[in-house]
Amino acid sequence: MKKKDIITIQIEDVAFPNKAFGFVDGEKVVVKNGIPGQTVQAQIIKKRSSGIEARQQTVLEHSPLERQDGVCSHYTLCGGCTYQPLRHEEELKLKERQVKRLLEQEKINVKSWEGIVPAPSETAYRNKCEFSFGDEEKNGDLALGMRKRMSHYEVVSLKDCNIIDKDYLKIIEGTLAFFQEKNVPFYHKLRHEGSLRHLVVRKGAATGEILVNLVTSSEVPFSAEEFKNMLLALPLCGTLCGILHSVNDSVADVVRSDEITTLYGRDYFVEKLFDLEFKVSVYSFFQTNTKGAEKLYAIVKDFAGNVSDKMVFDLYCGTGTIGQIMAEAGSKKVVGIELVEEAVSAANENASRNGLSNCTFIAGDVLQKVDELTDKPDLIIVDPPRDGIHPKAIGKIIDFAAPEIVYVSCKPTSLARDLVIFQQAGYKVERVKLMDMFPRTVHVESVCLLTKRC
Ligand SMILES: C[S@@+](CC[C@H](N)C(=O)[O-])C[C@H]1O[C@@H](n2cnc3c(N)ncnc32)[C@H](O)[C@@H]1O
Repeated sequence: MKKKDIITIQIEDVAFPNKAFGFVDGEKVVVKNGIPGQTVQAQIIKKRSSGIEARQQTVLEHSPLERQDGVCSHYTLCGGCTYQPLRHEEELKLKERQVKRLLEQEKINVKSWEGIVPAPSETAYRNKCEFSFGDEEKNGDLALGMRKRMSHYEVVSLKDCNIIDKDYLKIIEGTLAFFQEKNVPFYHKLRHEGSLRHLVVRKGAATGEILVNLVTSSEVPFSAEEFKNMLLALPLCGTLCGILHSVNDSVADVVRSDEITTLYGRDYFVEKLFDLEFKVSVYSFFQTNTKGAEKLYAIVKDFAGNVSDKMVFDLYCGTGTIGQIMAEAGSKKVVGIELVEEAVSAANENASRNGLSNCTFIAGDVLQKVDELTDKPDLIIVDPPRDGIHPKAIGKIIDFAAPEIVYVSCKPTSLARDLVIFQQAGYKVERVKLMDMFPRTVHVESVCLLTKRC
């Protein structure tokens, strides 16, 4: 086999997150977007000592594990739901296998493996989506939706999508028609010209409140007032609680803002988890599947056990959801740390809103802020971003010598790497349970209980 060869591979399995693999002439070949049991035609793109990589060209034979219906019309183009063709029960088995394999590879000794909890709903579960403006193909019509697979510029205009509800589609459709009619160009990342960048929509699953944030460059060749009125006239099932316009002239292709104007209503939406209320501001992290988050937090609560009179740290706390659940469950005191200042203000405000006086949330980097904590924790909960915990921060967390740590992870490769360090420091991995927060996508949440008895 050599570069550019066309080969036929039977997909044996998929390693996290999207590394389908099979064997050709006894050699392992990795190919993206494959489903176990499929036979695909692919072209070899890399051949190195570390392995062979191929790009899928076509599916020659479908897999018996594939679903018969319910795949959206954009699947082959959209970079969103990679596992969409898999039947849901097969997706759950695959995710469980992947995490188990990663922990085994790192020699993590798990005392009790407790399986995977399915999401309450496989469809329409997202409470947040960031859509991009672009063109359908080079110099084609203005498009608004998800980036195409393996493309940095082209966008699939979403007409149907399994993981968002109908209000998102109405907002996309209305917005696209509005800007197409006015001939407003999208922002071209390479040329740094044009206007439209992103449309962020957040919708509370429990409250139905919808927050829309239009992100453009400072070139604004349209009336923001007309844009607002167009949105307010849409026949939505939920209620628009805020329409924002953010200006972002940065070169990086990320949703952030130099300046935000509230065109209508307020700059946050309210969501409920269990019987607690959370104000979520536009750039604050909040779990993107509300009903799934309740299941995830139920696992955290179970692993934390009886927290009465315990001192709890909630590290990487976002808007303080986990910390407040612990505070409500009777913790003596909860201290949370979070990088995003507006998430911390929201967390403190949310705690008062929920009548909880036993928790405090601090803004800053966990790596530095833990040095300022003087309490001795009985339980530390960590829920870091995808990259996991900074190695130096892990050292500081270990130094607290908390008898119990609950590690919530949204990326199993980072989790496996971090668990090695906790294990070397004497922590035992007592329990591991997975939660399928993001059905049809490659993502999965893992919750681990680590204990150290002195
Ligand atoms: C996966 S989220 C978890 C949030 C929260 N526990 C929840 O369930 O909603 C990770 C959070 O860590 C924050 N973060 C990222 N890097 C950080 C750092 N170095 N120090 C503190 N917080 C950080 C992010 O802003 C984000 O809110």
